[in-house]
Amino acid sequence: MNSPHPSWRDAWTAALYADEGFYRTGRPIDHFRTSAHLGLFATSISELVRREGSATVVDLAAGGGEMLTALHALVGDDVELIGVEIADRPESLPPSIGWLPTLPDRIDGLLIANEWLDNVPCDVVEVDEAGVVREVLVDPKTGEESLGHEFESAWLRDWWPISQPGERAEIGETRDAAWADAVARVSGTAIAIDYGHTRSDRPPYGSLRSYVGGRETDVIPDGRRDVTAHVAVDSVASAVGAAVLTQREALGRLGLDASRPSLDLATTDPAAYLHDLAAAGEAGELVAKSGLGDFWWLITDTRGHGTLTA
Ligand SMILES: C[S@@+](CC[C@H](N)C(=O)[O-])C[C@H]1O[C@@H](n2cnc3c(N)ncnc32)[C@H](O)[C@@H]1O
Repeated sequence: MNSPHPSWRDAWTAALYADEGFYRTGRPIDHFRTSAHLGLFATSISELVRREGSATVVDLAAGGGEMLTALHALVGDDVELIGVEIADRPESLPPSIGWLPTLPDRIDGLLIANEWLDNVPCDVVEVDEAGVVREVLVDPKTGEESLGHEFESAWLRDWWPISQPGERAEIGETRDAAWADAVARVSGTAIAIDYGHTRSDRPPYGSLRSYVGGRETDVIPDGRRDVTAHVAVDSVASAVGAAVLTQREALGRLGLDASRPSLDLATTDPAAYLHDLAAAGEAGELVAKSGLGDFWWLITDTRGHGTLTA
């Protein structure tokens, strides 16, 4: 009970965001592939920008600016583009794209946050042998865990009730609050995109994971690997009044087409065929079952236009 080790939430925060933390010293693209690394994702965002007439696009957790760079190639300087990122501005970023360490107070247009909320640290809890829910503590060097104090949480009761010894949960309150703060700044549309679960399919032992260099690895908050947990999307959606679509549904509504080109094209115009085939492969990856297509889009239209959700 008197463990010298921090809570998961504190260890996770330090591991990712302290001076020598994982996201201070490296770029996400060196470790995993996200939708933002696929050019057709920006194409779909540009279609949303066109339909909404957005004056500004803010990409929260902009990584290496990949999505904004691709979007800039499509919309030019007609739309103000801003990356919000704790990491330094990428040297290759087109000069007209803004780069800020924190969110601006007001956003007139579109706010996108792809794979941000899964990196917002949470308290982690576990039911002990006596049926008491306790905070999980962790040794940041080894990942070895112990149980700390009893953990009282209205969020847990409302969104992720656990009672059997060994069951675990990640307390999503920090994500709800973080996204609510972001959405409150927006006049337009705010979209959080992430992997997650809802009350009907919570993972009984939680979903803490670590990745580094393109592979899953032991979960240790040592600053040398990512630490992530799936997002309780129903709770976040409830906190901000968001509509929820899968990425497959959302990109379909934005006109993304994952169908393969006709084989006839291969003989009449081989170059066009190869181009279309590559595009179909990329689109397929964005809408894949058991992959990016299962990601959740939490969409809040603060002006009630309902471009994506109507
Ligand atoms: C999983 S990466 C996603 C990057 C990019 N959106 C993508 O989809 O490729 C998470 C990113 O969130 C950034 N991040 C985490 N907390 C942040 C915060 N409070 N403000 C700005 N960026 C943040 C990290 O530095 C990291 O680049």
